[in-house]
Amino acid sequence: MQPFARVFPARARRYSARVPATSAPETFPLLRRQDPDLARLLDAEDARQHATLTLIASENHCSPAVRQAASSVLTDKYAEGYPGARYYGGCEIADQIEELARSRAKRIFGAAHANVQPHSGTSANLAVLEAPAGPKGKILGMALKDGGHLSHGHKVSATGKLFEAVQYGIDPNTGLLDYGEIRRLAMEHRPVVLIGGASSYPRAIDWKELASIAHEVGAALLADVAHPAGLVAGGVFPSPVGHADVVTMTTHKTLRGPRGGLVLCSAELAKKIDSGVFPGGQGGPLMHTIASKAVAFGEVLAPGWKIYAQAVLDNARHLAACLIERGLAVVTGGTDSHMVVIDLKREALSGQDVEERCRTANLAVNKNMVPGDQRSPRVTSGVRVGTAAATTRGLGKAEFGTIAEVLVAIVRGGDPEAQRPVVERLCAACPLP
Ligand SMILES: Cc1ncc(COP(=O)(O)O)c(C=O)c1O
Repeated sequence: MQPFARVFPARARRYSARVPATSAPETFPLLRRQDPDLARLLDAEDARQHATLTLIASENHCSPAVRQAASSVLTDKYAEGYPGARYYGGCEIADQIEELARSRAKRIFGAAHANVQPHSGTSANLAVLEAPAGPKGKILGMALKDGGHLSHGHKVSATGKLFEAVQYGIDPNTGLLDYGEIRRLAMEHRPVVLIGGASSYPRAIDWKELASIAHEVGAALLADVAHPAGLVAGGVFPSPVGHADVVTMTTHKTLRGPRGGLVLCSAELAKKIDSGVFPGGQGGPLMHTIASKAVAFGEVLAPGWKIYAQAVLDNARHLAACLIERGLAVVTGGTDSHMVVIDLKREALSGQDVEERCRTANLAVNKNMVPGDQRSPRVTSGVRVGTAAATTRGLGKAEFGTIAEVLVAIVRGGDPEAQRPVVERLCAACPLP
C-alpha cells in the first residue's frame, strides 16, 4: 500500500515537513497521437481543474493511482455475477480484484457485507430499494428541496415512480431535521423503507433515532451517506453501520475514489441486496472501476486518512465561522461535515448570480435551495460549498479564511475579476495530486 505522503505529496508537505514534494503531472502521449481532438479536450479539462478551486461539495480529486486503475485493461472484462459465481469465463483475476475491494470496504466501515458493483449512488439506491420495498412499496425519504436527493423518492426519479413515495423535510426555522415530524409521518404512512441521508444537509444525522423510528413502524432503514462517507470512514461523522439495515454511498465524493456506488449490509441481507444490484438493477460490473475503488479503499485504510477527514471537517467549520463573522448567514449556523450552505435570502444576489460570479473568479460552487427559499430551483437563494477537494490539494484553515473573504466580496457585489488572482495564487501554491 502506498504511504500517504507519496500518494498526496502536497498534503504531506503540509502535514509532515519531512516528506519531499514530488508531483507527477499526467500526460496522454498515446492519445495525443491517436486522437488529438479528444486529447486537447482532456488537456483543457486538466488545465481547468488545476486553475480552479473546486468547492463543489460532491467533488474531490482522486489520486493518480486511483485514476490509473480506472483506465486499466479491466475495462475489457465482462464479469456478470459475483466472485466464484460468474456468467463468463476468464474471471479468476476479476474475482480476486472484486474480493479485494469488498474486503477493504468491509474493513473500513466494520460491515459484514459489501457490494462494490453499483455504477453510481443512484443505481445503488434503486437496487437496494427494490429488495425490501418491492414494486409500489411505500418509501419515506427527505425532499429534494429540503436537502434530500432525487433518488430518495422524488417524482421525476424512478424511485418516485416505481414506489409510493412520501417525503419529509426540515424545520423551516432551524434548518434542522425534525425527528418528531419524521416519526409522525412514519406512523401515519407506515413505509416499508425509511431513507436517511442528504445531499445538502450540513449537520450530523442521528442514525440511532432514525433506526428506532423505522423499526417502530416495521420499516427498514436505508442510510445514504453518499456525501459524508469519507468522514464516516475517518471517524469524524456518525456512522450508520450498526443502526441502519442497509447503507449506500458514492465512492467519489469525500471518499475520494472513482465515480461509483457502494452498498453495505448484514450477512442476512447480503443475498437479497446482491441480487437487487445484479441482475435486479444492473448488468455487468465495471471491473476497472471496481479495481479503482479497491485502490481508493486502500488509501482510506492507510494511516493518513483520519488526518485528512479531520482536516476536511476543521476547514469546513473554519470556513463557516469566517463567513458568519463577516456577516453572511449559513444554514443551521454552522456544519458538522464537509459542507457549508450559505443562505442568501438577505442578500441582493441569488444563488445563480453567485455561482456565475464565482466561476469568473475560478471558484467552482453550486447554487442550492435553502430553508424558506422563495426563488425557483434554477435560481435559488443559496450556495453550497464543500471543503473535501480543496483539502485534498493541501489547503488549510488559513487558506479557507482567504476563501471566505473572496466569497463575501463576491456575495456583496464586488468585481469577481478582482478576486481571480487570489484564487489563482491558492491554486498555484497547492497543486492537484
Ligand atoms: C445523498 C445522495 N445520494 C445519492 C447520490 C447519487 O449519486 P450519483 O450521482 O453517483 O448517482 C447523491 C449525489 O449527489 C447524493 O447526494
